[in-house]
Amino acid sequence: MSEDPSSSAGDNGRTPAAHFGRRNVAPDEKTRLVRGVFDSVAVRYDLMNDLMSMGVHRLWKAELVRRLKPAARDRIVDIGGGTGDIAFRLMAAGAAHVSICDINTEMLETGRGRGLDRGLVRGPDWVCGNAEMLPFSDSSADVYVTAFCLRNVARLSDALLEARRVLRPGGRFFCLEFSHVAVPALGAIYDRYSFSVLPWLGEAVARDRDAYLYLAESIRRFPDQKAFAAMIETAGLQGAKYQNLSGGIAAIHWARRV
Ligand SMILES: C[S@@+](CC[C@H](N)C(=O)[O-])C[C@H]1O[C@@H](n2cnc3c(N)ncnc32)[C@H](O)[C@@H]1O
Repeated sequence: MSEDPSSSAGDNGRTPAAHFGRRNVAPDEKTRLVRGVFDSVAVRYDLMNDLMSMGVHRLWKAELVRRLKPAARDRIVDIGGGTGDIAFRLMAAGAAHVSICDINTEMLETGRGRGLDRGLVRGPDWVCGNAEMLPFSDSSADVYVTAFCLRNVARLSDALLEARRVLRPGGRFFCLEFSHVAVPALGAIYDRYSFSVLPWLGEAVARDRDAYLYLAESIRRFPDQKAFAAMIETAGLQGAKYQNLSGGIAAIHWARRV
């Protein structure tokens, strides 16, 4: 397993550590803790997204879909696809073959129920799996898309290598993720919001303050726009570029497997 430049050494330097909020933990421990976070919030996840972002996540996701421009023939894998919000949007925009992969069965089950509620006859495939060891064969996807997942994986470099592996040559990579605010005046307001309002909302709506404190802390520890673009290229994807959204609160990165 490769070590992320964004992680520091734990276990006296012998084992690469991952971050869980402010703590350094062993990578497998992070995977277990993150699974617990999403088990806890699965049923209220979509509602919380709207409340936390005041609906802005919908605009960011719409921009992702606009940039991705799915074609009906594209075989798309949506990694960390959770309750299917991205996949449903891609299908509404014309995608016909979408596999949602997520490590958390509670999120997948909640999403599958939503798909049935929407009356989707031919919905996406729902697959349980880890972004670091994807259950897809080499060169099997035209598009790899992920939204708000990679911040949670224990070994980010391994997840990026997996993205390259499953993409066919010429295949396209897209990642929507929280990022680093590029407008100084916005930074202070955003920090206050993240560390006061978010945990409060988490307690009030999802009955889990710590899950939303983890969210705020995980955003701070994710590589910034340029560092993440460099990691994407180090994994063997080429032409990495990014677009800031809402002053860098989030960013879309994209690249291609050549
Ligand atoms: C914040 S949610 C995003 C869900 C969805 N993509 C969206 O934008 O609404 C993050 C998702 O990533 C999943 N996840 C976290 N670590 C993962 C991993 N190592 N492999 C696959 N999925 C993971 C979580 O279970 C959760 O469903």
